[in-house]
Parts: sequence; structure tokens; C-alpha cells
Amino acid sequence: MSIFDDRRYLIPFCSRLLPQLFTDSLIIGGGVAGMRGAIEAAMHGNVIVLAKGPLDLSNSQVAQGGIAAALAQEDSTQEHFHDTMTAGAGLCEHHAVRVLVEEGPREIERLIESGMRIDRAQCGAPSLGLEGGHGRPRIVHSDGDMTGRELMRTLCASVKETPGIRLFDRCFALDLCVDPQGRVAGALTWHPKHGLQVIWSRATILAAGGAGQVYRETSNPRVATGDAIAMAWRAGAVIRDMEFMQFHPTTLYIAGAPRHLISEAVRGEGAIIVDRSGTRIMVARHPQGDLAPRDVVTRGIVEHLAQSNESHAFLDARSIGSAGFANRFPGLAATLAGYGIDAGRDLIPIHPAAHYTVGGVQTDVDGRTNLPGLFACGEVASNGVHGANRLASNSLLEGLVFGRRAVLASVRESLPDPVPMQWESRVRTSVAGELDLDDVRSSLRSAMWRNVGIVREGAKLRDCLDMFSFWGRYALGTVFETPEGWETQNLLTVGHLMTRAAGERRETRGSHVRTDWPDVDPDGAFHISWVRSDASARRERVGEDVASTSS
Ligand code: SIN
Repeated sequence: MSIFDDRRYLIPFCSRLLPQLFTDSLIIGGGVAGMRGAIEAAMHGNVIVLAKGPLDLSNSQVAQGGIAAALAQEDSTQEHFHDTMTAGAGLCEHHAVRVLVEEGPREIERLIESGMRIDRAQCGAPSLGLEGGHGRPRIVHSDGDMTGRELMRTLCASVKETPGIRLFDRCFALDLCVDPQGRVAGALTWHPKHGLQVIWSRATILAAGGAGQVYRETSNPRVATGDAIAMAWRAGAVIRDMEFMQFHPTTLYIAGAPRHLISEAVRGEGAIIVDRSGTRIMVARHPQGDLAPRDVVTRGIVEHLAQSNESHAFLDARSIGSAGFANRFPGLAATLAGYGIDAGRDLIPIHPAAHYTVGGVQTDVDGRTNLPGLFACGEVASNGVHGANRLASNSLLEGLVFGRRAVLASVRESLPDPVPMQWESRVRTSVAGELDLDDVRSSLRSAMWRNVGIVREGAKLRDCLDMFSFWGRYALGTVFETPEGWETQNLLTVGHLMTRAAGERRETRGSHVRTDWPDVDPDGAFHISWVRSDASARRERVGEDVASTSS
């Protein structure tokens, strides 16, 4: 048994000695899925929402492009379905995608009814952007490229004015409580002011986002450390499709600067990807050229850079013009100006970076996990909607649709009232020599980027697993008292799960590229999953999940 299968809790504790809180719904995560879920949950009982950082620090908040939905007269949910399935490279669950595209437009109407401002054309119809993999413009956006900010403003305002919702920011969820009947009954949390607390809940809903920080190069904010995936793993949830991490093709590539996202919508407005000599990289590689699905564009860029021995490519947005760019992408124009770049005049240096965790906690279309009482939605979940590669701007939509559905399912289950139980953990520590935690974290992120990144190879994946087990013997054999330590333990766990899954999938599909298995396996349309108690991987063919028909 590996160290990652052995460790059940991050810290030793005894619930009897800790402050205890009670709630009907405990929502772990304060991004779009968590906030949407909280609004729904408050109609049925009281709610606690935990956010690890300040509320304005989430992937949802920084989302640029927007929310995909078939709103245009000439568009249809069937076309949105088709584009999502195509991007997903044979691994999407049909039923989940149907739910997404059919329930999506109503979710956007609800947001507008709640006061969300969206950009509109002169005739008053929503102004719709175009992004990679979409057959037509269908991306709803706000304030040009600040959709996430307006979306979260709207959801947070609704949450704050809804009675019965308590919002705890800067609150770290460490571990889930599973009662003797196997039901999830709440979580152990830590807050810098209040210390450790136990929150007992009727239903626990994971909505804590992804794990982009496991990579050195990422568009994700620093909070995206995969804590909920690691916590669910320790509690015995099935973790699925972890080999699929989506790399966004265009993030700003300036030494020392964060990898700011340069929205695909910029290409939707006419920008093209070129190399140093001005040669177009995508035009001969795919019929959709610069607007091919994200995995195709990312792969095209890294292949071209490898062949030409160059470090990065460029986005040429000069056709949009300085004024046009500032008008359509005010947030990006300001960011670029900070680095002395005027997109109407200068080429923008870009390189792909880790962007979206496609895999996660396995759920059905109602957010149910294999553990009664535990639900998951948004980026932390693997409900089959994204297959092997997520279609652009389907993630905010997923958070909205499945945040609501997970809560409705939890209400329908009529789960018993939260009852405090004697819950304690004794952590076995190891005698492994001490390592520098910051160094482990940055070495892990570099190793993931080099070996489990855009292009993978079996021998390197195996080396990585050995390295992670070595670091794990120290990091998971130690008790830490701060979020930095817990995050590193969670990052190692998630990195291990991703590497294991990448080694198990012997083909190239969607965002998972193997140089030693360069082709799509015609028989490879299955999901790969694990539970902590069972060392062998499970394979489940696409379409075999139990489709719930409730809404
Ligand atoms: C973008 O604006 O390119 C990102 C949107 C997404 O991740 O779907």
C-alpha cells in the first residue's frame, strides 16, 4: 500500500474537544458552483458556505471568456451538444451533456433576473462571443472580458441577502467525517481566528474547484490546490479521469510574471497564433485553425515550438486595433499595459499553461458521489460532461447547472438530521528525514509540469511516481499545523493521482498526450478511477454510469 493510500486524516483530533456547529447543507467552496448551490439550498434549510481564501479569490472570479449557452435564435442546444461532444474526444457522458446544454439557458435567465449585467448588441440581444471548438458565437459575457467578476458579484449579492446562509471565508476544510454507516456527516475545518471546528451537516457538497497549482505553469489562482479532491480521496470517494488536465493555449509568457490568461475570445475576434517569424501555427493543423478545440491548439503550439526550438509563441491581435481591443477586452488591455504591451500594436508572447482540472470526484448527473451524504459539483467533480477535454466556456455553465442539481438531489434524499458523534483521528507519523516543505512544493510543481504536463511518456511517469512516494513519506508522514503544510500534502496526493492515471491510460486522447502511445485507442472510450481502499484501477465504459432522470 502506498503512503497515499494509507493516510486517512491530515491531523490528529478529537471532536469532543472542539467547538461544533450544525447545518442542513455544508457547501465547501465559494465559487460559482458553491454560490449557486447555496442559493438553492437556502430554500430548503440552513446553509454554511466555506471558502478557503477571501471570496474574490477563485477561478470563477477571474473567468474572462464567459458562459456558453445556446441563446441565439439561429443556435440550438443540439449544436451546443454536438460541439461539447466533439471537444470531449469520445469520453463525454451523453446524458450529462444533454442536461448541461438544456438546463444552461434557464440558468442564464435566472442570473439576468437576479441582476447580472451582460453585454448586449445594439438591438438589445445578448452579444455572443466565439471561442475554440464552438461552431458559432454562443458565449455570454459581461464588461467585455470580466464575466467572472460580474457573475460572482451577482451570486454573492444574492447569497448575502438570503436569510439562512452563513458564509465563512478564509476557512480551510481538512477532512470529511464518515459515520459508522458509511454516510458523510460533516467536516473538520480550521479558521485563523476560530481554530479547529467540526461542522456537522445533513448534506455535504464539495464545490471547491480544481488543482491547477499542482503545475508550475498555471492560469489558476493560488487557492487552486485540489484540497477537496484529496479530502474526498482520503474519505473513500471514487476519483475519476485524473489524467485529463486541460492546458489553455494562450497564457501570457513573460519571465517572472504570473501566467495571465489571454481569453480564447481574443481569437474569436480575429487574433491568430504565430511564431517569431510571423508564420501561422494553427492554420494547416486543423480545419478550425486558431479556433480548434483547446487540446488541439495547445498540442499544435508545443509541437511547433519543439520543431523550431523556440521557447514561446505569439498572439497577434493587431487586426482588432488598440481601441477595439480596449473596448472589447478592457481587463486584458489593462493587464497587458502593465507589461508595456499594446495589443493593437505589439505581439503578445504566449505559451500554454495548466488551466482546468477535468477529472475529480466521480458523480452522477445529480452530483451524487459513491458516499451517501456527499455531493460534488463544478470543477472538483467528474460528472462526464467534459470528457477528455472541456469545451471553452462550459465550466461556469457547469457550475451553475450542477451546483443547483447537486443541492436539489441532496434535498430529495431526505438525509437524517446531523447528529454529533465521537469522531477522532490518531495519525501515525513516520520517521522519514525532514525535507524543506517549500522545496517539496516547488519541486512537485516543476516535476508535474515537465513530466505530467502537455506531453507525457511512460518511463517519466513511473519516475515521477517514485519521486512523489519519496516526498510523500516525509510530507504525509508528518503532521502540519498550517494551511501551507496541508495544501502541500493535498497537492502531492492529487499529483500522485494524476500521474497514476496518466500512466494507466495507454493512448493519446483529448488533453492527455503520450509520446509512447501517440494514437487514439479505438477501444479506449472508458473512464479510469480509483478508491483509496482498492489498489487496482477501475475501468468504466462511457455510457455505463447510472443516468438519473430527475431534475
Ligand atoms: C477563456 O476565456 O479563454 C477561458 C474560458 C474557459 O476556460 O472556458
